[in-house]
Amino acid sequence: MLSDPGRTPLHIDLRRHLREKHEDRDLTRLICEIADASKYIINAIRTGDLGMAGTSNLYGEKQLALDVLSDRILIKRLTHSEVVANLVSEESGQVVEIDPNNEEKYSVAFDPLDGSSLVDVNLAVGTIISIYKGSNLLQPGRNQVAAMYILYGPRTTLVYSTGRGVHEFGMNSLMEYTLNYENIRMAGPAKIYSPGGLRSKYTPGTKKFAQYLEKMGTKLRYSGGFVPDINQVLLKRGGLFMYPHLTDAPAGKLRLLYELNPMAFLIEQAGGAASTGRQRILDIVPERLDMLAPIFIGTKEAVEMAEKFIYEEED
Ligand code: AHG
Ligand code: MN
Ligand code: MN
Repeated sequence: MLSDPGRTPLHIDLRRHLREKHEDRDLTRLICEIADASKYIINAIRTGDLGMAGTSNLYGEKQLALDVLSDRILIKRLTHSEVVANLVSEESGQVVEIDPNNEEKYSVAFDPLDGSSLVDVNLAVGTIISIYKGSNLLQPGRNQVAAMYILYGPRTTLVYSTGRGVHEFGMNSLMEYTLNYENIRMAGPAKIYSPGGLRSKYTPGTKKFAQYLEKMGTKLRYSGGFVPDINQVLLKRGGLFMYPHLTDAPAGKLRLLYELNPMAFLIEQAGGAASTGRQRILDIVPERLDMLAPIFIGTKEAVEMAEKFIYEEED
């Protein structure tokens, strides 16, 4: 039998893990509500309609029926959780005010089904969640009190952090999330890299950085799904994902509130880093709910190297 010393043999479910870490009761409840909601999203992915919804999201992109359904599942669950002040999603784009001025509750920004256009070709997709204390959703990401994602792949896994390390759970046959790995850490140069965006649209610094990675023997691993791509970098304990600024899209493609901040929080908790190439992602002060930013995210060593190339080329 293969031994895997980092893997915990104990059956610790998500709620117990949060309790043992003495997390706030309402935050524990919120995270567990989201974990429960994911079971309905799994069902929608497995059996739901793959067609278009006939509507557009915050970014003017056509929505799939699955985007809309996943969004509804989460909004409904969070609305009835009794611990949420405000919520906003990549799909709705408007703040849903539940208890809008209650600073004791939590506010949540989320991407209900990232990578939804990959479902028809049966590739992995995910849900991404960002959590703040209080009512304000336009804060720098460093103020997040928790972040998590759920990855719907051949297996379903959940990764969360409340600022005390980052932990991975796997869904068992009873649809419970049980602990796989605690305090995941990453370091060193990138062994793998996931480069988003068209190479022909890269600026000189990013082009040189990509060439450098290839020269160093870094393997290409890009699925087109942000959650599985980041999960691979995290669980393989090292690598780099980028969706850089492009010549025709200076802010890149990915969304600060719903995608970048929560992933940056999780990767920093694993000892990694996340940067626009010029600035730490978690220090960006969001001006709008639909703000985009370029991202280079992974081990500190790899992200610092990306910053160096971008600085040197002044792009
Ligand atoms: P969404 O499905 O929420 O619109 O996001 C898709 C994102 C992300 O999953 C991925 O990293 C990126 O888009 C892929 O973009 P390209 O198709 O340009 O590679
Ligand atoms: Mn997305
Ligand atoms: Mn989405």
